[in-house]
Amino acid sequence: MNTLSSSRAVQVLDRLFAESDASEPARAAAVAGADVSALVTSRTRYPEFYGLLKEIPLPVSRETGALLYILARAARAQSVLEFGMSFGVSTIYLAAALRDNGGGRVITTEFEVSKVERARKNLTEAGLIDLVEIREGDALQTLARDLPETLDFVLLDGAKALYADVLALVESRLRPGTLVLADDARYCAEFVNRIRATAKSYVSVPMAGDLEMAMRL
Ligand SMILES: C[S@@+](CC[C@H](N)C(=O)[O-])C[C@H]1O[C@@H](n2cnc3c(N)ncnc32)[C@H](O)[C@@H]1O
Repeated sequence: MNTLSSSRAVQVLDRLFAESDASEPARAAAVAGADVSALVTSRTRYPEFYGLLKEIPLPVSRETGALLYILARAARAQSVLEFGMSFGVSTIYLAAALRDNGGGRVITTEFEVSKVERARKNLTEAGLIDLVEIREGDALQTLARDLPETLDFVLLDGAKALYADVLALVESRLRPGTLVLADDARYCAEFVNRIRATAKSYVSVPMAGDLEMAMRL
């Protein structure tokens, strides 16, 4: 038995993935008429874009969630940073890994107030809220202070145009071996190009569809 297959986590994840599947029409309606490709890559209009989607779950896939659990377990992570929490699906996978690693803390970030409330309920229902610190507000501000000495694992899944900025904010806390996983890599070419170009600092590869995975050297 592990935390990820505990009935509490399974029930919450099954419900959240079912809600996500059912939200597809609402997701399309929320951005109907908007220039999605411009908004999703904009460095300035991301609050507008995610404001349109504030009722929509947008979770990582089940496969990416399982990968997060595997990587955080294999890295024996205790200190995790997540950019972009939404309703907390990826946070559940990460916190479950910490539980099974013996404890730790996921610092996660979300600026939509209603999403913060929903995620807090989901994490409580999954029995994992004690491992999670939710920083409410724009991550560019909330991650500019009070970071742990060391981060073992970083997930980038918030506004795509900010991945490089968020990495720069937390970079001093990465140690050799820290893993950085970026979701929706096709929308963050600047980040991908930068992390692949710094061969003395990171090894980075595309993987599993639309992920970029890097390791700090
Ligand atoms: C793709 S969703 C995250 C999904 C989540 N990782 C999961 O698996 O359930 C991106 C989330 O990041 C939030 N977000 C985007 N930019 C942000 C920022 N600058 N600061 C805080 N939250 C942000 C959005 O409101 C949205 O809920």
